[in-house]
Amino acid sequence: MNFALSEELSLIRDTARDFANGELLPRATQHDRDEKLDPALFDMLAELGMWGLTTPEQYGGSDFGNHALAIVLEELNRACASTGVTVSVHNSLVCSPIVKFGTDAQKERWLPKLSSGELLGCYSLSEAGSGSDAAALKASARRDGDGWVLEGTKLWVTTGEQAGLCLVYLRTNADAPKAKGITAFLVPTDAPGFEVGKKEMKTGLRGSSTTELIFNGVRVGDDAILGEVDRGFPIALDTLDGGRIGIGAQAVGIGQACLEASIKYAKEREQFGKPIGHFQAIQWKLADMSAGLDAARLMVHRAAWLRDNDQPCGKEAAQAKLLASQSANYCADECVQIHGGAGYTDDFHVERLFRDARITEIYEGATDIQRLVIARHLLR
Ligand code: CAA
Repeated sequence: MNFALSEELSLIRDTARDFANGELLPRATQHDRDEKLDPALFDMLAELGMWGLTTPEQYGGSDFGNHALAIVLEELNRACASTGVTVSVHNSLVCSPIVKFGTDAQKERWLPKLSSGELLGCYSLSEAGSGSDAAALKASARRDGDGWVLEGTKLWVTTGEQAGLCLVYLRTNADAPKAKGITAFLVPTDAPGFEVGKKEMKTGLRGSSTTELIFNGVRVGDDAILGEVDRGFPIALDTLDGGRIGIGAQAVGIGQACLEASIKYAKEREQFGKPIGHFQAIQWKLADMSAGLDAARLMVHRAAWLRDNDQPCGKEAAQAKLLASQSANYCADECVQIHGGAGYTDDFHVERLFRDARITEIYEGATDIQRLVIARHLLR
């Protein structure tokens, strides 16, 4: 076993870190205040190959894999979690399932445009009545001649506002048991009848759009189906195994930013005649933050390594996301506490980290869903 990153992974990490420090960190507060990402960033991310990290080279990607993606995502999220989630969803939740389940024609049609950043991807599973119970979804696709007509409203779609391609899960068989009548469709967002609905005003991650998507009689052909008819739900869950590694990496990145800000402040801020880092109460917080984050980081890397080696990783991805998201929220809470009143204002970026961390325990499967997934594996 070797815990050191390979030369290639170290180079990828350093490139992502330099970009994050140089371009993302200076923009992160503005992204949060403007509720959108700086449009200039999309081309910069494309130049660095960030839109095709898990896509084969023949389709314009770099094929670096999930471990590299996790390392990149930690660095991006350390600086700006709104940018981080956009890159995570695009790679893990849209490009990866096309690579894994798509036909040659689908790969040729979509992956080059996704790899270059010409199109951004979004993943649309949730609805008003189906969040944790994802298989309860009701938006539908019905056969009509040689194609399909899509109807219904989806919710909580990351990058819904900007996406050019939507991977959407719809009910195609109302009579089958609920998880067995769902199909995955690849839908271009310029299709007639496709509409972006309400944009959510969120607690954190404000630079990333989260929207409702409305399918109002959108017509697609059989070539839009990813995988098989009525067999889309396992694709949704397999895809989330990969996505959860990305959100685990995001949580580690946010937590790391909290730890670094706390160490800096502990050295600078003086009370009772000395830097507050001299007090054991502060030291113990820093120690617990660092131990939790290191454990979470190792779990994220292990899950990514399993996925890159085509081994089952559902339990490990859920464990990594569970621990990393809890650790990020612990770090964010203690970070604000260490900063005191200053941490409660937006003069320091730690209040944004506190708000951004919260979602990591909610999306791509809430904390209790990760526990459910882990327990099902243990009790098999
Ligand atoms: N990979 C592949 N197939 C899987 C799988 C996996 N990891 N887990 C289960 N399956 C298969 C099962 O074998 C079963 O297949 P068969 O029909 O052939 O038997 C089928 O999928 C259904 O599985 P379950 O019976 O376990 O399904 P369930 O209804 O009990 O649900 C659940 C399981 C874990 C609760 C699931 O609904 C879940 O993960 N819920 C959370 C939803 C979620 O994470 N949403 C995220 C939304 S996207 C998002 O957040 C993105 C963003 O914004 C950033």
